[in-house]
Amino acid sequence: MLNIQNLKLSFGEKEVLKGVDLNVNKGDVVTFIGPSGTGKTTILKCINYLVEPHEGQMQIGDINIDFKNINKKETLKLRRNTAMVFQQFNLFKNKTVLENVMDAQIAVQKKSKKEAYDKSIDLLGKVGLLDKEKDYPSKLSGGQQQRVSIARALAVEPDIILFDEPTSSLDPELVDEVLKVIERVAKTGVTILLVTHEMDFARKISNKVVFMEKGKVVEEGPPQQIFENSQNERTKKFLRKFYAKTNEMVEAK
Ligand SMILES: Nc1ncnc2c1ncn2[C@@H]1O[C@H](COP(=O)(O)OP(=O)(O)OP(=O)(O)O)[C@@H](O)[C@H]1O
Ligand SMILES: [Mg+2]
Repeated sequence: MLNIQNLKLSFGEKEVLKGVDLNVNKGDVVTFIGPSGTGKTTILKCINYLVEPHEGQMQIGDINIDFKNINKKETLKLRRNTAMVFQQFNLFKNKTVLENVMDAQIAVQKKSKKEAYDKSIDLLGKVGLLDKEKDYPSKLSGGQQQRVSIARALAVEPDIILFDEPTSSLDPELVDEVLKVIERVAKTGVTILLVTHEMDFARKISNKVVFMEKGKVVEEGPPQQIFENSQNERTKKFLRKFYAKTNEMVEAK
């Protein structure tokens, strides 16, 4: 359902994506791991067209895009077929929880208010926030805000949901409530691309893990292959370092 070939992007002189290929099937949960500054967020942003790749092809459902010649109509289609959940939630601060979830349904999907309302209430129930519909985001905890932004992403029924480190800015005790919601979303069969440092979670929910380094995919495969059986020196080195750091943090506590 998603096929990316030779995706390239530079910021000024800096080449950030150096020809990324990716193949995702409907219902896949794909997790991206890799060192900081490697281009993981940038890939998600390319798929949502928040940044503009200067080369590469992408096929998503029945849309075929050549980034060298992308037109306005294709851009809109891309945006409509994908929804992104950010590390910093990015909710509209001057809108209530309910309005945040209803908004794009009315503005973009042209649904009636009643339809958008019903859908939003249903989704807020699913993320466990029915009692918060009239609140403004500033009154909510980080975990609650993130659950609102997941409901908002689901509201437009995207083919793909892109999660960029959805739990990194949360206090540790709030991480689980958000991971549980993501797990439930994954079980509905929607296609998910996820960037995370929650390795245990990645191992549990993904059927594919992509290890990236310096703007390239180094290795990809089922979680078991990447986490337990990788034959790739760079993947092994990254994971060794990652777990050493995690252990240090645990011991320091
Ligand atoms: N808007 C921008 N303008 C200039 N450079 C950028 C921009 N966005 C990202 N970069 C650079 O592109 C590179 C890749 O960034 P990206 O955010 O995709 O990395 P990442 O793998 O998500 O890292 P992290 O794990 O720290 O989130 C980095 O070197 C970053 O500094
Ligand atoms: Mg990032």
